Amino acid sequence: MQWIKYSEVSKMKILVINGPNINMLGIREPGVYGKQTFQDLLHLLEETGRSLGVSITQFQSNHEGAIVDTIQAAYGSYDAIVINPAAYTHTSVAILDALKAVSIPAVEVHISDVDSREAFRQISYPGLYCEKTIKGQGIDGYRQAIHYLKDKYA
Ligand code: DQA
Repeated sequence: MQWIKYSEVSKMKILVINGPNINMLGIREPGVYGKQTFQDLLHLLEETGRSLGVSITQFQSNHEGAIVDTIQAAYGSYDAIVINPAAYTHTSVAILDALKAVSIPAVEVHISDVDSREAFRQISYPGLYCEKTIKGQGIDGYRQAIHYLKDKYA
């Protein structure tokens, strides 16, 4: 007799994608992005995944094409995406098109409150695809995005 715990076998898989300079958290403009470091963010993701019983994979790149490649590779492998495209938010039709191509549910996160910043930060191309945007919540925004996706799709 063999027992299989299906809740563990079928863990929801969420891919967290971070764009350029997010690896500099804690060092870069702490007045805008806070003092918490990239390492703190990785711990928060790990902790959130553990407490919700969700599998979390984190990818950070400073390169637009690498982000597009990663979104394409997520097709068929991930149930949902959390993405902070960082500066590519405001320029990247390629990231928008990649998200549309794979059609995986996605939530956009911004650590800072982009609404209250410069005019050039007011457009988000990936945000045109994402079903929700969380902004101005610091790194806790990632935790909120994961909760939202788990509640809706797990
Ligand atoms: C950001 C906001 C962007 O405008 C900026 O270019 C970033 C980070 C945020 O998380 O607040 O690099 O996406």
